[in-house]
Amino acid sequence: MQELRRALVAALADATGLDPEAIDGAVTPPRNPDHGDLAFPCFALARARGQNPAQAAAALARTFVLPPGFARAEAAGPYLNLRFDRTAFVARVVSRVLAEGNRYGASGTGGLTIVVDFSSPNIAKPFHVGHLRSTLIGWSLVRILRFLGHTVIGINHLGDWGTQFGYVHAGCRRWGRPPDDDPDPIETLVDRYVRATRLKDEDPAVEAEARDFFRRLEAGDAEATAFWEYARAVSLEEFRTIYDRIGIRFDAFTGEAFFNDKMAAVLAEVEAKGIGEISDGAFGVALGEELGFALLRKADGATLYLTRDLTAVDYRYSTYRFDRVLYVVGAPQALHFRQLGALCARLGKPYADAIVHVPFGHVHGMRTRSGGAVALKDFLEEAVERALTAFREEVVKRPAGLDERAVAEQIALSAILFNDLARGRIKDVTFDWDEALSFRGDTGPYLQYAHARINGIALKAGAELPVAVDGHRLAEDEAYQLATQMSRFPEAVARAAETYEPSVVAGYLLELARTFSRSNEVLRVKDAPPEVKDHRFALFVACRQVLASGLRLLGIEPIDRM
Ligand code: ARG
Repeated sequence: MQELRRALVAALADATGLDPEAIDGAVTPPRNPDHGDLAFPCFALARARGQNPAQAAAALARTFVLPPGFARAEAAGPYLNLRFDRTAFVARVVSRVLAEGNRYGASGTGGLTIVVDFSSPNIAKPFHVGHLRSTLIGWSLVRILRFLGHTVIGINHLGDWGTQFGYVHAGCRRWGRPPDDDPDPIETLVDRYVRATRLKDEDPAVEAEARDFFRRLEAGDAEATAFWEYARAVSLEEFRTIYDRIGIRFDAFTGEAFFNDKMAAVLAEVEAKGIGEISDGAFGVALGEELGFALLRKADGATLYLTRDLTAVDYRYSTYRFDRVLYVVGAPQALHFRQLGALCARLGKPYADAIVHVPFGHVHGMRTRSGGAVALKDFLEEAVERALTAFREEVVKRPAGLDERAVAEQIALSAILFNDLARGRIKDVTFDWDEALSFRGDTGPYLQYAHARINGIALKAGAELPVAVDGHRLAEDEAYQLATQMSRFPEAVARAAETYEPSVVAGYLLELARTFSRSNEVLRVKDAPPEVKDHRFALFVACRQVLASGLRLLGIEPIDRM
């Protein structure tokens, strides 16, 4: 589609002498699709030639040499309407998808090194559904950017440092550590944390104890460090089971604690460059009215979240030499990342402009049946149960011998992932079980069902891929619509990458699945006449390819049978 457009713009520039960019801006699909596939309004041309627009259009139509891929040019009022050679177009799209396979759509230029900081939950707390959005958006961006040929480093900047460990420790001292055979040690640790923080309201000694623990930890005390390592390991194990379940991989788990011994050098650099100042005993950089005072060291010597990020970004630059670093973190941290960027600029860092905050809105309503805000693990369990019920209700004819529980797991994941990724990042998302699990709505299960159906059609067709796809055997409008939608995949992926919006791919896939459903009503494969059968089969195999590639870019593994 893009290529046809480019060819047309070049041909029009030749024929009219107008500026190609202006032509490109003017060419649009006609409002009424019966008039053609693209239209060129002749107003500027008329002005240049001292004619009225209808005359200019008529004159252009008489002499215009059609570029390859076009079948007809016709003047209609002030417009030159153009029609593609549809059969050639369909054949070209289908052959290209089949030839490029799972590389189709990866037409980007790539070549950049991009760090993606995502997920980054806080440790010694359960993996809360609130961290899910960063995890899912970040993972999808990793996949999209890799697909386009960039070198992507996914980093989990674990929140593994802070006074919370003091409370976990104080709780464990009173009520014991999780026993060795504890089925859910993290829950026990969280229980200790919650009880200790509650107790501190009655007993101020608990707070002093927790602070003291953290001070010892910061000073490198062996016993405190051993406990911290233990609590970190327990948390990480839980996080890892969740990442594994979704299929997420990180290249580094360098959390906040990793930077403890690296902050002094950065603070010294800020001092040496003379941009810092002391205010009430605390050290920081005044960034002006809008960004305020960026605090880097408290009066008691303690460092901050910002100090660690300033250190981390420098470390990442010297380790990976990134061209860009993305922080997939909720919108409430916007000021933090603007301060980070401004600090790097004041330090004269070459990567100051490469810092990109990719913010997102809240998720509301992720609750289980019992109503509480929940740990992700429980949420997933419930999702699988519900998916199994929905699957059995919605899909009456289920394949024999299918592991329905395994399918339910995949349906549940696709429901949750898609629900989250389908909306624009910045919008708040509301989670509703029935909506997310519907097989008919704009959902993950709907896409999975479409994928499994195409797969079923392809398997049962008793057809073979033709040696060469012949567009004359795919002459129906439905074939053209489906090919058109497939041809837009590369654009959708590129736009998703430019705007850091997986929702562009999600929206694209819904449109593709709907177009497939419409074509499938008309273009039957199994009982098609022999001369068209293989060509229709090729069309659907290509569509299955695009749907599968798109789902994978969202982090969703396509289901073949359901
Ligand atoms: N752990 C932080 C939080 O939960 C998010 C960290 C994001 N990444 C970063 N480099 N600051 O709020």
